[in-house]
Amino acid sequence: MSAADRWDAKYADWHEPGSPSDFVVGYAELLADCPTAVDLAGGAGGTALWLAEQGMETTLVDVSERALQIAENAAAERGVRLQTICTDLEADPVPTPVTLSRLAALAVPDGGWHAVVCNNFLHRPLLGALRGFLVPDGMAFVQIATVENLIVNARPRRPYLVELGELPELCSGLDTISFDEGWFGQRHEARLVARRPH
Ligand SMILES: C[S@@+](CC[C@H](N)C(=O)[O-])C[C@H]1O[C@@H](n2cnc3c(N)ncnc32)[C@H](O)[C@@H]1O
Repeated sequence: MSAADRWDAKYADWHEPGSPSDFVVGYAELLADCPTAVDLAGGAGGTALWLAEQGMETTLVDVSERALQIAENAAAERGVRLQTICTDLEADPVPTPVTLSRLAALAVPDGGWHAVVCNNFLHRPLLGALRGFLVPDGMAFVQIATVENLIVNARPRRPYLVELGELPELCSGLDTISFDEGWFGQRHEARLVARRPH
């Protein structure tokens, strides 16, 4: 089964986008200076819709048509603009703003976005390519469960978890602004905010 089929099946009984990431919302002040944002593997759009509601030109990328449809319906109901792109972010080579722009009916910013979010989706080559998604001084927000999470939770399974201390290394070419690793409620997560240098 393809990733698209697998995730469409998971979203089959979803009807709402879900809540925005508390990690991202916690950086509302920092994000207030960002005119554009993209949420990579952003699912049914809980976080992307919140970004759009803050006034950012927001793009939501995911492999699941079903998830994007839920996000688009919610955007229409709330009266916010949200661009969606359905694509496989595990493709080789990793998509770039330029390749994504070929898929989008609306424009993808040429030089990249001011903020990139990538939460709960671990594809190491994508994290290594985040710099290319950002304008100079643009910021990345990445939140992924760590291997410690297995002590309490059977899922996500091992392949979808970062090693302790691994996340900043994966996001090469970005300067760390803040890196936290620990228990956030019932989940053990790595949370990174990083900036693209000039
Ligand atoms: C665990 S969910 C996380 C959703 C959202 N980022 C969040 O934190 O709530 C993983 C997301 O990755 C998407 N996904 C899985 N494989 C993908 C791929 N190869 N390319 C793009 N998106 C993918 C799924 O459709 C799903 O929405």
